[in-house]
Amino acid sequence: MRVGNQIEKPEGKLGVLLPGLGAVSTTVVAGTHLINKGLAHPFGSLTQMQTIRLGKRTEHRQPLIKDFIPLAHMKDLVFGGWDIFTDNAHQAAMKAGVLPQETLEKVRPELEAVKPWKAVFDQRYVKKLSGPNVKQGKNKMELAEAVMRDMEQFQKETGAKRLVMVWCGSTEIYLQKTAVHDTIETFEKGLKENSPEIPSSMIYAYAAVKMGIPYANGAPNLSGDIPAMLELSQKTKTPVAGKDFKTGQTLMKTIIAPGLKARMLGLQGWFSANILGNRDGEVLDDPDSFKTKEVSKMSVLDNILEPNLYPNLYGNYYHKVRIHYYPPRGDAKEGWDNIDIFGWLGLPMQMKVDFLCRDSILAAPIVLDLILFLDLAKRAGMKGIQEWLSFYWKSPMCLPELQPEHDLFIQHMKLKNTLRILMNEELIDHSGLDYYEK
Ligand SMILES: NC(=O)c1ccc[n+]([C@@H]2O[C@H](COP(=O)([O-])OP(=O)(O)OC[C@H]3O[C@@H](n4cnc5c(N)ncnc54)[C@H](O)[C@@H]3O)[C@@H](O)[C@H]2O)c1
Repeated sequence: MRVGNQIEKPEGKLGVLLPGLGAVSTTVVAGTHLINKGLAHPFGSLTQMQTIRLGKRTEHRQPLIKDFIPLAHMKDLVFGGWDIFTDNAHQAAMKAGVLPQETLEKVRPELEAVKPWKAVFDQRYVKKLSGPNVKQGKNKMELAEAVMRDMEQFQKETGAKRLVMVWCGSTEIYLQKTAVHDTIETFEKGLKENSPEIPSSMIYAYAAVKMGIPYANGAPNLSGDIPAMLELSQKTKTPVAGKDFKTGQTLMKTIIAPGLKARMLGLQGWFSANILGNRDGEVLDDPDSFKTKEVSKMSVLDNILEPNLYPNLYGNYYHKVRIHYYPPRGDAKEGWDNIDIFGWLGLPMQMKVDFLCRDSILAAPIVLDLILFLDLAKRAGMKGIQEWLSFYWKSPMCLPELQPEHDLFIQHMKLKNTLRILMNEELIDHSGLDYYEK
């Protein structure tokens, strides 16, 4: 890892590769251009809006993160992507219905310029979708090579100096790690032999990591989270991160649950229901895709509450998550939580959360931050799993011998302290003792 002045400078354009040009992707592309034109603010983005405290509180050093570390500038981002539909990013954004037509009109030429390349897609892995813009190949290795050629071509056309890939494609059916995923050799053999255990998202991840391009996985798919890909990421010195953007209800869960635990309030049950009507909701209406999402959403509470350490408080709670496809809502999701808790002497209490959120509005700044932080990580010589980016994920990746960190506040501290380490600044332990115990 390189720190301070050794981190390569973010010179030239940064190419952003987006498999899946749907609601989230087009909201990122539109938002970036609107912000670059001075027509909007980057609300929700740490890289653009948040400050970082340095040194002692008496020093009053609080620069913006983007002024503190050498991040690529938003104006240097250029976008490309793949989709199974031929709609350009403007048409796709109109269909996704996240941003109003008049807003999209202001960046129409920039959006129209993003025309999807043919996708690597197999309906076996996303049962609710089918589309015409799909690559053909003798085997999965050929498809991966075609993705690599797309990226090279894009880099040549745009003059981008560096690339980053963020999977914004649909959630695939639930798959578990098998022997094919074990090593680079078994995986490459699987690609050549068309192994059914290699879904489309893994083919993109392989293409990126093979070329040393940082890869982030916005969906809960296994994708880059297999031993073979991690081995490859070490070999090609590539940062990887995932999985599943932490947006609506899970964001709330990872805010509320650490608070309950910090105060030693017990949990009897947590029932979460969602209604949403976008394409993501339609894909998740298929039980096999929902299973992938469910596993991702369910893991959060156990990891935060640690029932093994606190059996009386958290040893016996009931956790249920439901997602209902309800077209009238479009992207404006509603998430209900009923939380049954207990306190002193076991007396019961209840909390009800009704979060009327906008999925892609919460996801877009996450994608922007991940693009910029992963590019930073690459220039700083960081490789493999980027655990310091756990802040952004529902199912943060970590080494098999570790527990993932889900607590949003610990994740936040982890991220900021990593930035301090990268810039040779003192770590902050927040004890405050140095002001009092002199
Ligand atoms: N919006 C959020 O808050 C949020 C949060 C967490 C995770 N996610 C995940 O992010 C992903 C994108 O969400 P969205 O709301 O934009 O969904 P979306 O359905 O609007 O967009 C996904 C796009 O991916 C395309 N696609 C599917 N498979 C593909 C493939 N193999 N290659 C290329 N394109 C492919 C689809 O045609 C579609 O246009 C989903 O997996 C979703 O579960 C979203």
